[in-house]
Amino acid sequence: MKPSPLDSKKAEQMRNAYDGTSEYYDSRYRHIQYLKYSILLHQIIKIQKLPQIQLRGLVLDNGGGTGLFLEFLQKLSKFSIRNSEEDEKINQILEFTCYLISKKYRTTPISLIFPPTVICDVSFEMLQIARKFQDSIMLYGLVSCDSAHLPFRPSQFSTITAFTVFQNIENINKAIEESHRVLVDQGCLGISILKKSYNKFRFAEMLGKCFDDIYPVNFEKERGDFQKMIVQNGKYSQFYDLEKVEDFFLTAKKL
Ligand SMILES: C[S@@+](CC[C@H](N)C(=O)[O-])C[C@H]1O[C@@H](n2cnc3c(N)ncnc32)[C@H](O)[C@@H]1O
Repeated sequence: MKPSPLDSKKAEQMRNAYDGTSEYYDSRYRHIQYLKYSILLHQIIKIQKLPQIQLRGLVLDNGGGTGLFLEFLQKLSKFSIRNSEEDEKINQILEFTCYLISKKYRTTPISLIFPPTVICDVSFEMLQIARKFQDSIMLYGLVSCDSAHLPFRPSQFSTITAFTVFQNIENINKAIEESHRVLVDQGCLGISILKKSYNKFRFAEMLGKCFDDIYPVNFEKERGDFQKMIVQNGKYSQFYDLEKVEDFFLTAKKL
């Protein structure tokens, strides 16, 4: 099936750019994207205020590309039971995620419940790679579209995530409105955006036109404490630089 043409020139350019590099995306960006998921996930879980540690479903991973976020969630739920992965960097990021969540919930080990997820993205080729999850109970659907024109009815999703996507969108205000429209009341939006492309406070102001409650995501203190802890216990042969992340993070709730 061929993707349909797009209204926005920038969306068309993005589609071409990501279509052309899709096969290298996971190996280039896996670690850094995992770190972003780690940072945003604990905050989303916290503001949803659910009795159990979970993401409220249905989830929309907006601009979700190759499905790395789903892959991360799968690894995290295995890690929280068995505590081991093949890649040391990934181990450290998963351990950091558990650390962040358990700090908020004051419980270890954590057990996580993940709901089904729809991934949408403008790039057809990025979505083709995400098809590897088609047999996973977590993947509910793959949709090729522009985030500024979401082909969903209102109030369909309880959680929307958008990792390193919004800075690519021509009409950001429209994309924010669309996310708000398809979220249920009390639903939560979690966003990461490259710092070099946007000012955090200006972006929070834009979100504030649609969303009632906007929360900054702070993790610097926890990152320092975690790094100290793993240096002291000598569990890892290498120390992964948790400071590499170049995005800022915001969460918003639809009241
Ligand atoms: C840096 S990648 C991030 C992918 C994924 N969120 C992740 O964490 O790996 C940016 C993604 O945004 C998608 N994208 C760019 N412009 C878009 C638009 N207008 N609507 C939907 N997706 C878009 C690209 O195709 C690409 O998959």
